[in-house]
Amino acid sequence: MLEFQRIVFLQGLFTFVIVPAIAIFLGFVAPSNLVTVKLTHSFFHTANIIQLHRSPTYFPSPPYTLFSTRVVLPSRTIKPSYILITSEGKIHDLCPSLARTPSEWRKVVIDVSPLVVMPGLIDPHVHVNAPGREEWEGFEHATRAAAAGGTTTILDMPLNNVPSTIDAESLQKKIRAWAHSDSVVDVGLIGGIVHGNKESVGDLIDGGVLALKSFMIDSQSAHFPHVNAADLKDAVVELNRIFSNSNYVGREVPYILHAELDDFGPDTGSRATTQGTYDHTSYDDYEKSRPHSWETNAVELAANIANNTRVHIHIAHVSSHRAAQRIFELRSSNSFKGKITAETCTQYLVWGKEEIPPGSTSYKCAPPIRSVRNRDKLRSYLFRIDRESASLDFVASDHSPCPPELKQGENLTKAWGGISGLQYRLQGTWSVAKELNLTIIQLSDILSGRPASVFGIDGMKGVLKSGLDADLLIWDPESSVVLNPGNCLHRHKVSAFHGYKGQGEVYYTLLRGRPVYNRNSESLAVSNTHPSPGRLLMREKRDGTISQRLSTEFSQYS
Ligand SMILES: *[C@@H]1O[C@H](CO)[C@@H](O)[C@H](O)[C@H]1NC(C)=O
Ligand SMILES: *[C@@H]1O[C@H](CO)[C@@H](O)[C@H](O)[C@H]1NC(C)=O
Ligand SMILES: *[C@@H]1O[C@H](CO)[C@@H](O)[C@H](O)[C@H]1NC(C)=O
Ligand SMILES: [Zn+2]
Repeated sequence: MLEFQRIVFLQGLFTFVIVPAIAIFLGFVAPSNLVTVKLTHSFFHTANIIQLHRSPTYFPSPPYTLFSTRVVLPSRTIKPSYILITSEGKIHDLCPSLARTPSEWRKVVIDVSPLVVMPGLIDPHVHVNAPGREEWEGFEHATRAAAAGGTTTILDMPLNNVPSTIDAESLQKKIRAWAHSDSVVDVGLIGGIVHGNKESVGDLIDGGVLALKSFMIDSQSAHFPHVNAADLKDAVVELNRIFSNSNYVGREVPYILHAELDDFGPDTGSRATTQGTYDHTSYDDYEKSRPHSWETNAVELAANIANNTRVHIHIAHVSSHRAAQRIFELRSSNSFKGKITAETCTQYLVWGKEEIPPGSTSYKCAPPIRSVRNRDKLRSYLFRIDRESASLDFVASDHSPCPPELKQGENLTKAWGGISGLQYRLQGTWSVAKELNLTIIQLSDILSGRPASVFGIDGMKGVLKSGLDADLLIWDPESSVVLNPGNCLHRHKVSAFHGYKGQGEVYYTLLRGRPVYNRNSESLAVSNTHPSPGRLLMREKRDGTISQRLSTEFSQYS
């Protein structure tokens, strides 16, 4: 009896005095409103040491176990779960309790409840601008901003870097630029198909790109000439030939199109209608200069050329609800025999042009932001995602930053076209989703699961399941933050999103179980471990052999 009381006393002393004291001493207690220390298991009833604490200021190195009351599971439910993370940073398993797991998984348990744990976000449309224009962004800044926004994988576009990524040699330059920089999230590369480089398409695929991309209209970059109708046809024929080869291994590499085509046809280049009483500071005039018909023209031509082929067309940044409708029809029709997927971007879901003050160059992008009415319709095409034939698969940022000088002044014609929003994709999209009463599960789909499957990395990322990378976004969907330059990790602090009240706050972003962003550490620090934790995601060659190896580690997948 005496012995029992002594144990109870010791246990109480331990639980309520010693452990909190040690926790405070070690700096576990975070300046937050969350409970900081929680001991749910008695130290006296098990031989294993379990550190269960909330709001950790640091994470141990894997292996360890992560717990939350709210984990987004592959079964499309949110439930309390323990995520067992291996020393390689993979998910070993997810369990509702630790009762039946081997004792090694009970040694270190980090409890982040009530924060939501979901798959790290995947943003397949980012312009890193390296090599050649690191002063516009670069891998260090892009990947840190990504991490701060909960993103663990980005796909980098083949322009506006110099040279453009359009053949084996320029792809090597891109890979070297990546290898010499310090990326904190994973990066996949996209190759360019431009006027006159069709013989490089096979080399780009063998070089490991995850997708190919063309512009159907002037790209703003002299180094990235757009394709005319004949080029587009040649590209599709070439891709179809590659994919139809019996030695071709893996899924068809998606062919991304910047789908704007002016009313003068595919062979004339851009001819924005800025004549007459055109006001260079009016967003309304800017929007009218690149009308809906440009998007629907482009979708029609692309669908026509890719029809009856094995080419997977992916329409980038759909802004017009009419284009979304046309894609919906193509997908639902029995006569269209091709594969077509599509994305929209945060900015098209958040704003209507009526809300943009005159001369606001930070909102300039192409295609333009359209009316509020258009925005509301566009939202409905995105959130048909649970239906059989969805129209828009996911939301990308189309992060396309530039030096502040190129956004200076109020002339929308002169300003660089591109919105800086990589860090803000979660908050922008979640704000809209919340307004529409959508769930965190749907959000996870359109920011992570769907992009992973469209670009063929779903065997590696995009859901929380055994064998996949432990890339995790840990966040509070109930709080809101006014996005501001002070917390911005993009190289340049110009963004249409600054001043916007975004729903949701990122607490931690983990790449393969290691933190690459931690809100609780001083400032907006991200991991500075060496070598840097980000990896380059390379597709295997057409015949299934490995693309290439540098001294740096590569992730291969099949
Ligand atoms: C695709 O081809 C079929 C004939 O195989 C045709 O009926 C259909 O209209 C075509 N669709 C497009 C979008 O070109
Ligand atoms: C705006 O820029 C365009 C393109 O550089 C130029 O043609 C036009 O004159 C400018 N307008 C004003 C009002 O500055
Ligand atoms: C969302 O739910 C709230 C409360 O149930 C309701 O008032 C509102 O109309 C809903 N909004 C939409 C867009 O369905
Ligand atoms: Zn882009």
